Amino acid sequence: MLTALVTGGAGFIGANFILLARKNQWLNIINLDKLTYASNLENLAELRGDSNYHFVHGDIANVELVSYLLDKYQPDIIINFAAESHVDRSIFNPQIFIQTNVVGTFNLLEAVRFYWQKLPPQKQQQFRFLHVSTDEVYGSLQIDEPAFREDTLYAPNSPYAASKAAADHFVRAYYHTYNLPTLTTNCSNNYGMRQFPEKLIPLIILNALDGQPLPIYGDGQNIRDWLYVIDHCEAIYLVIQQGKIGETYNIGGLNEQTNLTVVTKICAILDELAPKPNFSYASLITFIPDRPGHDRRYAIDCSKIRRELSWQPQENFDSGLRKTVQWYLDNSEWVNQVRSVAYQNWLQQNYKNRK
Ligand code: NAD
Ligand code: DAU
Repeated sequence: MLTALVTGGAGFIGANFILLARKNQWLNIINLDKLTYASNLENLAELRGDSNYHFVHGDIANVELVSYLLDKYQPDIIINFAAESHVDRSIFNPQIFIQTNVVGTFNLLEAVRFYWQKLPPQKQQQFRFLHVSTDEVYGSLQIDEPAFREDTLYAPNSPYAASKAAADHFVRAYYHTYNLPTLTTNCSNNYGMRQFPEKLIPLIILNALDGQPLPIYGDGQNIRDWLYVIDHCEAIYLVIQQGKIGETYNIGGLNEQTNLTVVTKICAILDELAPKPNFSYASLITFIPDRPGHDRRYAIDCSKIRRELSWQPQENFDSGLRKTVQWYLDNSEWVNQVRSVAYQNWLQQNYKNRK
């Protein structure tokens, strides 16, 4: 079995990927994570005792540490999930986004380049560096514009999107300049179990269960293309195995929804799964002032990955959303643990001036 150094594997998508990779015996995994507020080692609790999984607490920007890990574990694959990932936080505090998403990815690339150059030819040939990116690098679409393709020009609008775009450009440059065998995936909005409740779907579920307002920015007509996280993880593994080096692959859910529709659907599911007498969760919906620079619409054209790697999303949005709501209902311990003082402070900071 090949060994992968996975970065950011204690976060939402990384943890789902690692659990799937270990369950299906895809890969041995070394998980390097800085354990920021968005991480949760409980996500990976079921891997305690798995001798093919190792956790390392550290920063992708730490070249010495990354070089040490590369020498020690001799990975065949790097999967870079590590990032600051929340757009609203990037508006309050862009600096850390530059540090992790740009400098961190650059330092990781440097350490990997020196490691890869010293590998024996066969190992060098099979090596892959997969960088996990986002559709937000392409900017915002009008309602009637065609979906983002791999050749859509970059036009990032938030500090988060700009930092991811910069990282993507470094990954591209390392392929073209040093022949480092890189792959980049640009994915749409993920949803599913284990997502930190600063993002729309888990925030709405938890606020609703608490009887708190369900905050919708602006007119609620912004559109996102939602993909179930497991579909994303399967696409990533496919790209590692069969993707053409140096290329980028768009991954999307073929599932555009307005924010108001998403929130309304969550409320309807909760009315069924956690009913309260004479009450509908939708009565908590509250429109609040918009996110600055709020992108209107994202949509992914994923025909390349469908055509070349035979991937397409398997989960249907209604059943995926129901599974997600059920997961948050079933995992109250996880929920209580992530709702720390720091989380309450974040809610204060982000929402108090929008009322
Ligand atoms: P997340 O915020 O849930 O998790 C990020 C993880 O990275 C955390 O465990 C955190 O501790 C770790 N991390 C942060 N800085 C680090 C550093 N300097 N060194 C090591 N680890 C560090 O994010 P997510 O939603 O799981 O997203 C994972 C990746 O996928 C990100 O690169 C993000 O840009 C990308 N992406 C996310 C989505 C989405 O909808 N969530 C969609 C497309 C792409
Ligand atoms: O498109 C991929 C991106 O999706 C990823 O790269 C990011 O890491 C991920 O955070 C996500 O970005 P968004 O900004 O689209 O996700 P978020 O869940 O923050 O918001 C989804 C939509 O819901 C967006 O239009 C803003 C809106 N929203 C969000 C929150 C938190 C609200 O209306 N109210 C809210 O309270």
